[in-house]
Amino acid sequence: MDWGMKNRMTKLIKSETGRAVWLAVDHGYFLGPISKLEKPKKTIDPLLPYADAIMLTRGVLRNCIDANIDTPIILRVSGGNSIVGKALSNEGITTCMEEAIRLNVCAVALSVYIGSEHEHQTLINLSKLVDEGQRYGIPVLAVTAVGKELEKRDARYLALCCRICAELGAQMIKTYYCKDFKKVTDGCPIPVVIAGGPKLNTDEDAFKLAYDAIQQGAVGVDMGRNIWQSKFPIAKIKAVRAVVHKNASVKKACILFNNLKKK
Ligand code: R5P
Repeated sequence: MDWGMKNRMTKLIKSETGRAVWLAVDHGYFLGPISKLEKPKKTIDPLLPYADAIMLTRGVLRNCIDANIDTPIILRVSGGNSIVGKALSNEGITTCMEEAIRLNVCAVALSVYIGSEHEHQTLINLSKLVDEGQRYGIPVLAVTAVGKELEKRDARYLALCCRICAELGAQMIKTYYCKDFKKVTDGCPIPVVIAGGPKLNTDEDAFKLAYDAIQQGAVGVDMGRNIWQSKFPIAKIKAVRAVVHKNASVKKACILFNNLKKK
């Protein structure tokens, strides 16, 4: 791996633990101002010290985030769709590599929609982005999106998606946790992180999701709603960090969270 790419990867996946807690705040690119991200700066700023990286679009980065932050940036560079449009899978590359370099990002991220009407187009987007990333030393995070079809989240499908993204040259994968998740990580030769998905019923459920994913081979989480839609987002991300970086059990994470809530 080239020095620049290796350096960026080291900033994203902490060498002390080999793990990562990223904060996903890119939802607005197709969902608009969803609950708790109406004013991105208000939600994101207090969480920055606890995130190993933040994932967002250039619009939110340029308009809402101070340029003096140390937190590495994962720049979402795919889009062109919306929750009210015809097909969520109809994505293109929305931000060029030159802009990513200008913004001093540590990685670029795009979604692929395998099994959808636009499978081919999104996989070619990935391949082209990997070529450009290799040219400039920028890692590519492939997101195995399922669109509105959340029921697609099973091991057979996600293992297929992750393996295809790795074969096409992505450096990292973001996917969903599912039953038999080890099949997904076992079949994927590059680091895998999980999305949190829609807010779960309890905080314990979110810690369990992170715990189970880590135990089954994920290197971390790229979590959004389950952190910043929580009533106690800082306590929540700190407890998730304990699970990911310190192998805390779900019980320990709950105790930590409940103590931190009171402060
Ligand atoms: C989806 O394509 C986006 O990348 C989201 O940022 C992602 O799903 C992670 O956020 P959450 O944990 O809220 O699912």
